[in-house]
Amino acid sequence: MLETIKARRSIHTFKPEEVDTAILKEIFTYGSYAPTHYMKEPWNIKLYQAGGKKRLVDAIIESYQRIGMIKTDGEPKTLKMIDSMRQFLLAIPHHAVIYLEKEEDPVRMEEEYASVCAFIQNSQLAAWEYGVGMLWTITPYIHDPEFLEALGLDGERMKIAGVMQIGYPEKVPRDKGRTPIEEKMEIVGE
Ligand SMILES: Cc1cc2nc3c(=O)[nH]c(=O)nc-3n(C[C@H](O)[C@H](O)[C@H](O)COP(=O)(O)O)c2cc1C
Repeated sequence: MLETIKARRSIHTFKPEEVDTAILKEIFTYGSYAPTHYMKEPWNIKLYQAGGKKRLVDAIIESYQRIGMIKTDGEPKTLKMIDSMRQFLLAIPHHAVIYLEKEEDPVRMEEEYASVCAFIQNSQLAAWEYGVGMLWTITPYIHDPEFLEALGLDGERMKIAGVMQIGYPEKVPRDKGRTPIEEKMEIVGE
């Protein structure tokens, strides 16, 4: 486990084969042992795979167009760009949208969001032990309420903590290392 913490990498390229749903459930079960204040277990998952990916990818492209990150001019160049984005996203075996219910109290909101982030990292580490790679993505569409609505979520009440791209790694990036912890740490002895 300690080795996994250092060995895990964010994966950007995946093999085409799917991960068995039973394995994904086990991975997210490990995720769910994250600390959770008041035992709220605030994480929720929408898992897109096989034919279901089209719904997510359509929603992503429509959101990018709404936000203005992709043009809606129907020009061949734009259509080509949309098509290559679509093919890129559809080639990723699984996408998991991880979301939580928003809290009105900002302190409670921080607590629940923190817990969901712990859930995500637990899941990434568990996945690594199964040979499964993930990429935690945060993109502008996760803040677009209409994108959430397109996924069947209440855009006002729900917050997306990340969209995880999931599959068996095609390539594992090199370890970029980390800053020595002493540079981030102050020991107050008295
Ligand atoms: C909250 C969060 C959001 C991230 N979003 C993206 C993203 O949108 N695209 C991406 O390529 N990587 C994203 N990453 C992954 C980081 O780029 C990656 O963790 C970092 O480069 C360190 O690499 P490692 O995870 O392989 O150690 C995200 C990571 C976190 C924690």
